[in-house]
Amino acid sequence: MTGKRILLIVGGGIAAYKSLDLVRRLRERGLNVRVVLTEAGAQFVTPLSLASLSGQEVHQELFSLTAEARMGHIELSRDADLVVIAPATADLLAKAAHGHANDLASTLLLATDKRVLAAPSMNLRMWLHPATQRNVATLRGDGMIFVGPGDGAMACGEFGPGRMSEPLEIVAAVEAALAGDTVIPLPMAQPPVLAGLRVIVTSGPTHEPIDPVRYIANRSSGKQGHAIAQAAANAGASVVLVSGPVSVPDPAGVQTVHVETARQMLEAVEAALPADIFIGAAAVADWRVGAALVEKLKKGASGPPTLGLVENPDILATVASHARRPRLVVGFAAETEKVIDHAQAKLARKKCDLIVANDVSPATGVMGGDANTVHLVSKGGVETWPTLPKAEVAQRLIAELAALMGEGGA
Ligand SMILES: Cc1cc2nc3c(=O)[nH]c(=O)nc-3n(C[C@H](O)[C@H](O)[C@H](O)COP(=O)(O)O)c2cc1C
Repeated sequence: MTGKRILLIVGGGIAAYKSLDLVRRLRERGLNVRVVLTEAGAQFVTPLSLASLSGQEVHQELFSLTAEARMGHIELSRDADLVVIAPATADLLAKAAHGHANDLASTLLLATDKRVLAAPSMNLRMWLHPATQRNVATLRGDGMIFVGPGDGAMACGEFGPGRMSEPLEIVAAVEAALAGDTVIPLPMAQPPVLAGLRVIVTSGPTHEPIDPVRYIANRSSGKQGHAIAQAAANAGASVVLVSGPVSVPDPAGVQTVHVETARQMLEAVEAALPADIFIGAAAVADWRVGAALVEKLKKGASGPPTLGLVENPDILATVASHARRPRLVVGFAAETEKVIDHAQAKLARKKCDLIVANDVSPATGVMGGDANTVHLVSKGGVETWPTLPKAEVAQRLIAELAALMGEGGA
């Protein structure tokens, strides 16, 4: 984390005073913070305070010959690992959602090639207004990450959602975002090999309830499945991602449906059919508790409870034998032993076209990690790829699937 660069945009909201503390907290963690202050933001905090706390010149003007000569706006937008907007005003969100570029902050947001994390702050009516909610939904779809807003008493005297998250909550969100890949590839950098095709991807774990507060889960992070959805969208496909509970952000330009259980995941996948390609990368729980309790299980004299497990629906097998079966059905096999043998058996049993098999033994660091070593198992044989970043596995897989679509099968 130390040494990573943050470009902090401070908008014109009453919570701008908290951004002074945010700069301090980020720097305490060894992060380099460069600040951009909007014209309205300068009504709330001074460039002098921000410059003193960040230890760097504060950028305010788009049309500044001196600033442009020292560091141009495009360079400024790229010379960061993460862009943070705090406070993110209704106005900044609206501009970003619609691609405006009429001041330094909005131009940077349009020109950046990095993830943007926004901490909204506004009156509750401004936050709840359908226009703001529409803009937030658009920005989420474009890959913007949000922290807050929280509920609470507002400077305007009202009470409700719209309060900017506290600096330490924003710092935690910054750290989480920096733990992943923050570079957004140029959409056209990948050839549009899936243009005109519809792709459904599942990703992440499922949570199967035991009672209202407990659930059965697994260690899947969603990183590989989300990277595949992103790569498919970058390749021109129209993508529906059905995701279990994960902490990775929704991929840019992808319609993401959030679910918790295997049954909800199957329902969302069936609702998204028809499609040309289905990629089941989610780690779907094989079993659920047959009769999840409505009230919390209590510790009692009768000792530990018995969880009566029943089998979950098999999403991959269902899609592979569906009346509206996609042309290509791809499954993932996460194994801890005999990886290829199990994958070959799964290919035949589930009637899919391709299995992407990976070893998820703890020593491999695949579950939750950023790299993966996969074997592509099809009727034609087994192809083993070297250990690669998950984003690269995703891009290669998409190229492979595009080739198979061209050949008319697996
Ligand atoms: C006293 C005062 C407080 C304001 N607080 C907020 C706020 O918390 N959130 C917000 O979205 N707008 C707030 N506004 C309105 C913004 O300052 C205004 O929309 C401005 O154009 C935002 O510019 P910017 O998005 O370029 O920073 C406030 C305005 C005033 C006068």
